[in-house]
Amino acid sequence: MAETLKTIFGVSLVGSGSATPIQRLTNDELGLRVDTNDSWIRSRTGIRTRHVSGPNETLSDLSHKAGRAALKMAGWDPKSVDLIILATSTPDDLFGSAPKVQAKLGAENAVAFDLTAACSGFLFALVTAAQFLRGGSMQRALVIGADQLTKWVDWDDRRSCVLFGDGAGAVALEANNSSEDGLIGFYMKSDGARGDCLNLPQVQNHLPLVPGKTHQRGGFSSIQMNGQEVYKFAVREVPALLGELLEAHCINPESIDWLLLHQANQRILDAVADRFSIPTEKVLSNLFEYGNTSAATIPLMLDEAVQDGRVQSGHLIASSGFGAGLSWGAALFRWQGPT
Ligand code: COA
Repeated sequence: MAETLKTIFGVSLVGSGSATPIQRLTNDELGLRVDTNDSWIRSRTGIRTRHVSGPNETLSDLSHKAGRAALKMAGWDPKSVDLIILATSTPDDLFGSAPKVQAKLGAENAVAFDLTAACSGFLFALVTAAQFLRGGSMQRALVIGADQLTKWVDWDDRRSCVLFGDGAGAVALEANNSSEDGLIGFYMKSDGARGDCLNLPQVQNHLPLVPGKTHQRGGFSSIQMNGQEVYKFAVREVPALLGELLEAHCINPESIDWLLLHQANQRILDAVADRFSIPTEKVLSNLFEYGNTSAATIPLMLDEAVQDGRVQSGHLIASSGFGAGLSWGAALFRWQGPT
């Protein structure tokens, strides 16, 4: 019987882009609203400012700007894109915002859908898109991570409101048929049993429908968080999963060019870097400027470091996203950049 030859595809990360709202809110300004101060926020989190969407800045606008910049860097015609995945927990439309972004981009040949996995969203979307490309059914994907959590924070809860900001980042991902797969490996994890320590639950609202019957009215409360539990979860699970991944691929932490973690808290970044003896100069961090932008943090940071020349073609990046769900994941990838 004739042996069928199966082409093995890999993926290349060839473009990046990002966008953030114009309006910046400093720690001192936040102190005008809640009982907090710059020194407390800086020392506990590393955050100095965050960007908060103004009246005309929508999630799909931010996503569109980030996506357009990634396509430009990749040198792609929007019509050549096959797939758009928008990782977000804060769509403009509960039915999904990805199709709107697809239309704004003029990517008329792409199928577009949202993916919800909170702060792990971008990493999960990157892996998901890579599977379509590796399977050989699609050639070009745009992966966007975008969130406007400032719509959903309780601005009177000082334990959580100081942490979050808005933003979007995007990566252009292309199938290649070489043995150089840019996504070297990944793990993804969920634990719904611990989900209550960080969530954005529905409000219970039952209204009369017809005599003797009620219906539920949709709506959500604001972000609810047990900061200490989330902190413990992150510093335990992230190094454990990243360690497993490095070991599985026989990669020594010393050979990593950049550690690119979800930007939640500088203390979490430092703790993970310490665990692998990764020097500070190799830890990418911009949360002092943006705070935690949820699904946007990883591509927003990647784009900044690509733009300023820190991340260069061929660099090996160890990444991890973590957050509500609970969900967390780790990925090892190589940045290629435009060809
Ligand atoms: N300003 C001033 N004081 C504050 C404050 C603020 N913004 N927020 C909390 N405090 C106070 C508390 O009320 C408490 O006071 P008390 O001792 O008088 O009761 C004290 O500071 C310590 O609070 P605690 O919650 O123990 O602080 P912490 O060291 O755990 O830091 C976080 C709080 C939220 C910064 C920290 O737990 C954290 O970063 N957790 C992870 C959160 C996260 O990353 N979430 C997103 C994941 S994707």
